[in-house]
Amino acid sequence: MHVDELETPSVLIDLDRMERNIARMQDYCDQHGLAFRPHIKTHKCPEIARLQIEAGAVGIACQKISEAEVFAGAGFNDLQIPYNIVGAAKTARLVDLAMYNRVTVSADHLTVIAGLADAAGAEDLTLRVMVELATEIERAGAPVDEVVTLAQRIDAEPNLHFAGLLLYPSNPAIRPLLQEALDRLNHAGIGVDVVSGGGTGAAFHAHEIPELTEIRVGTYIFNDWATVSKGWAALDDCAMAVLATVVSRPTPDRAILDAGSKTLALDSVDGLHGFILEYPNARIYKLNEEHAYVDLSACDDRPVIGDRLHIIPAHTCVVSNLHNRLYGVRDEQIEVVWPVAARGRVW
Ligand SMILES: Cc1ncc(COP(=O)(O)O)c(C=O)c1O
Repeated sequence: MHVDELETPSVLIDLDRMERNIARMQDYCDQHGLAFRPHIKTHKCPEIARLQIEAGAVGIACQKISEAEVFAGAGFNDLQIPYNIVGAAKTARLVDLAMYNRVTVSADHLTVIAGLADAAGAEDLTLRVMVELATEIERAGAPVDEVVTLAQRIDAEPNLHFAGLLLYPSNPAIRPLLQEALDRLNHAGIGVDVVSGGGTGAAFHAHEIPELTEIRVGTYIFNDWATVSKGWAALDDCAMAVLATVVSRPTPDRAILDAGSKTLALDSVDGLHGFILEYPNARIYKLNEEHAYVDLSACDDRPVIGDRLHIIPAHTCVVSNLHNRLYGVRDEQIEVVWPVAARGRVW
């Protein structure tokens, strides 16, 4: 099927670019002796994760249990969830997953560890638990002076195993803090199996933190306007484009596209909701649910109603979560259609 036959809006994946992105990241990790663990929240498609595993990845990372359940069902059995799993219902599902898979989870607080210990104890199996170290983004994560206490607590629990340290993002500037955490663990006589870093931004700098044993990276596979704007990728590394149609030209300076917040999500970069490949000077300045507002005032050429445009989204991961399918395209032909099996799996 030719790409022109697709309805809009549709999410296109340039297969040549995606395959190049997969190979480049895996080659980098192989070259530096790092295990590579793709974060599947970017595509949520088991078929795509299988390509990453075939290229050499050691397993996958999922952000939510519901994602991990889909991927376990599709045959993936090394599942890492770098997230605090809180509440008896969720920890029970985590333990269910761990009965048949190698599951590793993270924790940054004694309360979280206690919940994991209860759930694992109820089924009498051992859960692998990493301690998440706080970083400069001030999200989740324990401060460095709590790492030993948390690791000791994990190892003291009969049904938990301390599996190492986890951090996000692993920018090189974090190295002194990571070294301090590892020194403290070493002095306390606690072994560290894995040091897991993550994030597309610093992925190709991981070798500057020799303490890392693996990296979890998601966005690199498609890239987006955010990674390009930050200088982490080039425009021709962007494998995902949203195909949209111009449905209105109310004024000479404005176009309206059939791709709103239900297609592109509300994420933006410098106030812009994506980059239109055919009109680099156009600005997607506002989204309603089913309308994109485009400012054409800086464009010499301007589109007409019915034109089909390719938008590099501001943030690729949230786009995948909004669509039933991704269309893999090569030479303008739809070569593969991937159901987004973990779409909406956010619980
Ligand atoms: C804990 C964790 N690890 C890894 C990643 C992957 O980051 P990126 O998509 O920048 O590669 C993320 C992204 O949100 C994350 O939250």
